[in-house]
Amino acid sequence: MTLHSPLQSIYHPLFKHHQLTVSIKRDDLLHPIISGNKWRKLKYNLISVKKLNKTSVISFGGAYSNHIHALAFACYQQGLNSIGIIRGEPEYSNNFTLTWAQHWGMKLIFVDRHTYKKRQQLEYLQQLQQQYPDSFIVPEGGSNELALLGVAQICHELDNQIDYHTLILPVGSGGTLAGLITGDKGQHDLLGIGVLKQGMNKDYLANEVNALLPKTARYFGNWQINGDFHRGGYGKFSAQDCTRIIEFIQQTNIPFEPIYSGKMLLAFLDLIEQGYFNAGEKIVLLHTGGIQGLGGLAERKLIKACQWCLPSAAPVR
Ligand SMILES: Cc1ncc(COP(=O)(O)O)c(C=O)c1O
Repeated sequence: MTLHSPLQSIYHPLFKHHQLTVSIKRDDLLHPIISGNKWRKLKYNLISVKKLNKTSVISFGGAYSNHIHALAFACYQQGLNSIGIIRGEPEYSNNFTLTWAQHWGMKLIFVDRHTYKKRQQLEYLQQLQQQYPDSFIVPEGGSNELALLGVAQICHELDNQIDYHTLILPVGSGGTLAGLITGDKGQHDLLGIGVLKQGMNKDYLANEVNALLPKTARYFGNWQINGDFHRGGYGKFSAQDCTRIIEFIQQTNIPFEPIYSGKMLLAFLDLIEQGYFNAGEKIVLLHTGGIQGLGGLAERKLIKACQWCLPSAAPVR
């Protein structure tokens, strides 16, 4: 299961104008389905499942979750059973993401918001473990200690690929940033772009990251999360945001989606225009995958399918 992703240079008039050298770490190319940070986060989790002789994996997610989609395929590929505890109504089971998950053998259990909120509570997890003793439980988004180990490998790969100053990535649950902090060991500026609204609790995402960090990585001060570019909240974006992302896709031939990678991209372009970066700076964007999410957005008519590099259609239902 050792895979390395390529690093691609991106040329754009804005970068030239501001004298920036920009590359993108194409983790979206790691695997056609277990793409981006999903591969990194699941790798050591699945190794542990095998070591512990468990036969099944349980995890949690929303109805369009990239994590659930990737986990279902990864388990199918590894000959493991999988159970997805999904926030919401059973009606979602026919959507793009969950149709694929079931196609790869995942059993879905739909729970209401109240039950879903218990997903990190010890008592609830113990009950689940008792009910499914042969299962290994992976948290929502795959973000746990084992995930950090896999994500940290991005830093070792980058060290052999490029000399750079700043690494930029989207932040949802914080697991990917936490993994990069542990792997980077204080060498580069790590700039996370928050994709959700933190509301009154401005430090919400930073606290999530800190909670995931091992003690040895807690003193690194080379990272920050910019929360100004959530564009209205998780999963929210405007028609103008879409136009800008599509224009960039056409200029570079790199696929983006508007929930994670696209929000990082727009934040990056806005920060350049605000003069945030120094002339001569070498910047790496981390493409964390998530392109499957376009299927669900098109299905809900939140984007126009013909304008995006869409993933393949869902299996016949
Ligand atoms: C495609 C994609 N990119 C980025 C993220 C954010 O990563 P994290 O939750 O580790 O902060 C997610 C969510 O897990 C994701 O699905």
